[in-house]
Amino acid sequence: MKVLVINGPNLNLLGLREPELYGAKTYADLIEFIHTTGTEAGVEVECMQSNHEGVIIDTIHEAFNRFDGIIINPAAYTHTSIAILDALKAIAVPAVEVHLTNINEREDFRKVSYISNACEKTFAGSGFKSYTEAIHYFAEKK
Ligand code: DQA
Repeated sequence: MKVLVINGPNLNLLGLREPELYGAKTYADLIEFIHTTGTEAGVEVECMQSNHEGVIIDTIHEAFNRFDGIIINPAAYTHTSIAILDALKAIAVPAVEVHLTNINEREDFRKVSYISNACEKTFAGSGFKSYTEAIHYFAEKK
């Protein structure tokens, strides 16, 4: 089981960025956490982060035939990007959406996720553990 983890815009600024919402840990901490969780769960994980919608779309296209699953935190593109939704639908690799925060308990504009239309599950509101839930979801599918 090989899973690609895609992190969207501004997640590279974890630790600096609104720590009262997203916590004090850095993006490097998140990547280490994801790799440790993957190893423990027997899931091979590869991580990427981009602040650019087109780069995320290209990465999704390249995942076709290379990965068994995608875990995506599209960040703000969650609420705006039909193009990322269409890319996920196009390659039809099983995908799961994650968010550090509970987007349903924040501003109204965060309550809409275009991306969830192409995802089997959404795990949100548990901080780094949202990624654990997503990795375990794929581990249990094996
Ligand atoms: C986020 C939630 C989004 O609304 C926001 O734009 C982000 C991070 C989260 O992980 O909680 O950048 O995806």
